[in-house]
Amino acid sequence: MNHTVVILAAGLGTRMRSKRAKVLHRAGGLALVEQVVEAARALAPYGRIFVVTGHQAELVETLLQPRGVGFVRQQEQKGTGHALASCRDAVPHDGLLTVLYGDTPLLTAATLERLRDMQTGSNAAATLITTTLEDPTGYGRILQNKSGDVTAIVEEKACTPEQRNIKLINSGIYCFESELLWKHIGEIEPNPASGEIYLTDMAEILARHGHPVRPMHVDDATELLGINTRVELAAADRILRHRKNEELMLAGVTIERPETVTIDMHVQAGTDTIIEPFARLLGATSIGEDCRIGAGAILENAILADGVTVAPYTLINDSRVDTAAQVGPFARLRMDAHVGRDARVGNFVELKKTHLGDGAKSQHLAYLGDSEIGERANIGAGTITCNYDGQKKHRTTIGAGAFVGSNSTLVAPVEIGENSYIAAGSVITHAVPDEALALGRARQVVKSEWVKQRLKKS
Ligand code: UD1
Ligand code: CA
Repeated sequence: MNHTVVILAAGLGTRMRSKRAKVLHRAGGLALVEQVVEAARALAPYGRIFVVTGHQAELVETLLQPRGVGFVRQQEQKGTGHALASCRDAVPHDGLLTVLYGDTPLLTAATLERLRDMQTGSNAAATLITTTLEDPTGYGRILQNKSGDVTAIVEEKACTPEQRNIKLINSGIYCFESELLWKHIGEIEPNPASGEIYLTDMAEILARHGHPVRPMHVDDATELLGINTRVELAAADRILRHRKNEELMLAGVTIERPETVTIDMHVQAGTDTIIEPFARLLGATSIGEDCRIGAGAILENAILADGVTVAPYTLINDSRVDTAAQVGPFARLRMDAHVGRDARVGNFVELKKTHLGDGAKSQHLAYLGDSEIGERANIGAGTITCNYDGQKKHRTTIGAGAFVGSNSTLVAPVEIGENSYIAAGSVITHAVPDEALALGRARQVVKSEWVKQRLKKS
């Protein structure tokens, strides 16, 4: 059956105490609303997923645009029922319509599939997900008739003291027969206390018309956690990280002290890779097999081939490392740096927009920016590419097999030929041909017995 998903994400989320819309806050490395959109894929293609936006609509839409979901603007946030009603003209009216709230990032595909199957196999007008909470504070309570069908949902504020004790709560996830939903949604009256139009009133309306509404109980309540505060945000983040760690470990990745690492949802890692404590693997990072990621290393959008070692406290952003190369400790790769096969980058070496060729080495204390460095070149300690003249960036090219002596200053634009040598301490401002030796430093002067002569004078 055709299935449409509407995700409500227009609210500010006052309880977050934030300038940013709640659904933009991140857990597990993705914005809350992104997590929900990805879960929704279990039910519908992106073309049939619609997100209701309002607060910071442009930011939310820009974030989700690449996925190809639809958007409906809710100009004023008059409640969850009003948010869904605003979609009337934008969404298909056939088949099923599932409503999700943009602040429930822990929802799994398996639970949504179970919801769909339950609704499809029943004569109900809607099925909604419920769970039992020891502390139901903040959630709508479910009222049932003798046969267990839902007769109404009562929001916390409207609860009688007796209803407040009900532990069966509304998760905010509903699967409706589209036709009945659109036929009756206009009947929701503004809530007498808040003036808002509550979607939760649909349960009572459908039941009143003789259309059964069924609860689907989920035993693991954590899945349904709605994020309203930053305390809940941190809790959701912890759960998502835990799930990700388990996924990787079950797929053959060793994670030492998993509770200390931070791995985003979309990170990939190959078998027999070892991740040491306190590593952070972020964004679209992809790691091959048999790699080792050192303690405290931070990788964001890093692409590592097989057998790469990243020693502790190394930072890699938007960069690539080829097979069996070694990077770190305390190295930094950024802005499209590319370390070749078997190459070595050691401590306090920074590479920016630089390709270090296969088997090349820069082991200590260097800045290599906007450079192309040939295979097997050896870059001495303290080498600096002076790539910036205060106005423009310039390139440095170092040929294969070149040997750059320690503490060399390479003033770009400049080319160093293949298999050439740069004497230690040189300032190189002109091209060096292949197989030449370049010395760019003052000749050493030695004044013998200078100290004795000075003493005589005084
Ligand atoms: C809602 C439910 C409650 C349920 C709980 C589960 C209602 C009236 N109450 O309460 O029964 O137990 O979720 O987490 O639905 N939104 C809009 N437009 C609006 C108002 C809200 O798009 O005008 C969006 C928000 O951005 C949010 C979602 O709807 O993503 C839920 O709104 P929220 O204010 O968090 O509802 P709760 O008070 O948590
Ligand atoms: Ca909520």
